Amino acid sequence: MNQDDMKRAVAQAALNEIVPGTILGVGTGSTVNHLIDLLADRVADIPGAVSSSEASTRRLQAIGIPVLDLNDVDSIPVYIDGADEVTPEGFMTKGGGGALTREKIVASASDRFVCIVDESKIVETLGRFPIPVEVIPMATSVVGRALGKLGGRPVKRGDFVTDNGNIILDIHDLRLKSPGDFEIRVNNIPGVVTCGVFASTPSNLTIVGGPEGIQAISP
Ligand code: 5RP
Repeated sequence: MNQDDMKRAVAQAALNEIVPGTILGVGTGSTVNHLIDLLADRVADIPGAVSSSEASTRRLQAIGIPVLDLNDVDSIPVYIDGADEVTPEGFMTKGGGGALTREKIVASASDRFVCIVDESKIVETLGRFPIPVEVIPMATSVVGRALGKLGGRPVKRGDFVTDNGNIILDIHDLRLKSPGDFEIRVNNIPGVVTCGVFASTPSNLTIVGGPEGIQAISP
């Protein structure tokens, strides 16, 4: 089984987590793209979705699932999304695709976060994958200097603009012993929209795909 097969297998397993007849929260990325493709056979079960990116919105609409504005939705029982790194406690780094802010908003508005990953994403400590931070463009330098003081090496993601019109600084060379404290500190820097550490919005269930099959981890 290659990595893409594993991504498809966890997406398939996540279909069991959907509550039929309710609004589904949908993340972003190649793993979620498999999920959306599989949802084509479940359209009748899903009255609408709240999407975390323009890319997922287009893909959902292409299979006939209505995409709703979060402001028009009272309840999202389940949010399904991938991650760049996940710890056994359910803390994650997200934002490899640059959709971290909308992902965090939809995750926080949902009752359950189901994270779907292949086994390469499981780590004991976050930070091997550079940590994305979405930043208001005028604050790029000032936020970069502040992030440097935390011990990492921020690098501006070249030629990338988020769906919200902002830039991404990816922090390299930092290992997070305390993801919760880090998330609060970074999010308090003026100019930061949010960072890609999901400690305040951990996954409730992580479905992991490996060569031997899938495994569920509930923190
Ligand atoms: C996008 C994300 C993705 O969930 C993360 O990058 C994982 O992507 P993929 O499923 O392609 O490996 O956070 O902002």
